[in-house]
Amino acid sequence: EKEGHDWFMRKEIFEQPRAVADALLGRRDATGRLMLDEMRLSDQELRDIDKIIIIAAGTSFYAGMVAKYAIEHWTRVPVEVELASEFRYRDPILDYSTLVVAISQSGETADTLQAIRHARGQRSKVLAICNTNGSTIPRESDAVIYTHAGPEIAVASTKGFVTQLVACYLLALYLAQVKGTRYGDEITQIVNQLEAVPAQLQQVLDDAPAIYELARQHTGARSILFLGRHAGYPVALEGALKLKELAYLHAEGFAAGELKHGPIALIEEGLPVLCVVPPQGRDQLHDKMLSGIQEVRARGAKAICLAEEGDERVAPYADHVVRLPRVPVLLQPLLAVVPLQLFACELATVLGHDVDQPRNLAKSVTVE
Ligand code: M6R
Repeated sequence: EKEGHDWFMRKEIFEQPRAVADALLGRRDATGRLMLDEMRLSDQELRDIDKIIIIAAGTSFYAGMVAKYAIEHWTRVPVEVELASEFRYRDPILDYSTLVVAISQSGETADTLQAIRHARGQRSKVLAICNTNGSTIPRESDAVIYTHAGPEIAVASTKGFVTQLVACYLLALYLAQVKGTRYGDEITQIVNQLEAVPAQLQQVLDDAPAIYELARQHTGARSILFLGRHAGYPVALEGALKLKELAYLHAEGFAAGELKHGPIALIEEGLPVLCVVPPQGRDQLHDKMLSGIQEVRARGAKAICLAEEGDERVAPYADHVVRLPRVPVLLQPLLAVVPLQLFACELATVLGHDVDQPRNLAKSVTVE
């Protein structure tokens, strides 16, 4: 059932164009307005929400970090993102005007489940973003957006993550539609951009051989760092997590602006640093990222940059450039994560590890 692939993970990486298309299917009515069929929260209930808290674990938590940027930008509702395992133990401030969004691929993660039980006990509404129909978390939630990625077998989440991102964007746009914080035309334009993503993902996947080659050049690395800014920051964290999980390699993701506050001390000759370069449209971000790259490179690091097509400014700063199709900054994680998934999968394969069943890990973590 791996359909010619060596691992379920690789198969699932290559399923992402279809998974994203499925996650977007049937989300507009005849007039073009967004609809979320399992939303189950009335427009009035959504209008009353004045704070959102996203809770999740692992890769789903990184999807939540991206969601914060999108929801706050499009709706102006303040969003907190918190690890499910930490949430309950800090006595969070919750009431009926707080929407708690639980993101879970499996729908069975114990930390996330306990967190939503706590939130509902405090009269907050809970919306689940989940890939598994009928699992415990959506059953115990007030509303659900299913991600429709299809079963994810590999322990490492890939198509689960990108479809969680899609669901988060749809939630953000739906809230913007209900609250009237964005015009219909703008929402339509963003949904159109989302609908172009499956073909763009396919373009990224067509370049897989170049990423595999890059991975094979790094099998001797002792440590690999990842840098990002804005929506690229959670992508950096996710790239590092994939490498830890699969290749058992020391990897860390940083917000590029934090480098000078400590992590730059780690940089030494030859250290590979994977950099998620924001699209050029966002000038300040782009400039700041380039100067971060310059800083690490001046100290001997090898910069592997993920940058959009047509970004001619990045080449002089990079030892290697991986090209990404052009998308707005908020959508870039959908594409930028893919080379990092391919990189980790290939590196772990060459090292001889079991990519689908990494040591010490389980697909759903049903204990706290
Ligand atoms: O099923 P969930 O989304 O609730 O799982 C959360 C994490 O356990 C999960 O994302 C984990 O970090 C994956 N192994 C990441 O690849």
